[in-house]
Amino acid sequence: MSVEVCFLPDNVTVQAEVGEPLLTVAERAGVTIPTGCLMGSCHACEVDVVETDQSICTCISGVPPNLPRVTLNLYSDPTW
Ligand code: FES
Repeated sequence: MSVEVCFLPDNVTVQAEVGEPLLTVAERAGVTIPTGCLMGSCHACEVDVVETDQSICTCISGVPPNLPRVTLNLYSDPTW
């Protein structure tokens, strides 16, 4: 199933498949997500999923299922 993935703050939208690694999707969109460990422990790659109000580590996450559209906000600091 294909889903629209939108990256903020640049507002770049690409088509992706459910379960596709988010770093791969970001690369295709031309969006750079900072990474460190690539193992889900340093949280350098964390983004906010706007639809679910959750923070996820993109290095270990795929495109989530059951959402018609996924918006990822690279600014995850809530006090910004
Ligand atoms: S790169 Fe360290 S948690 Fe993703």
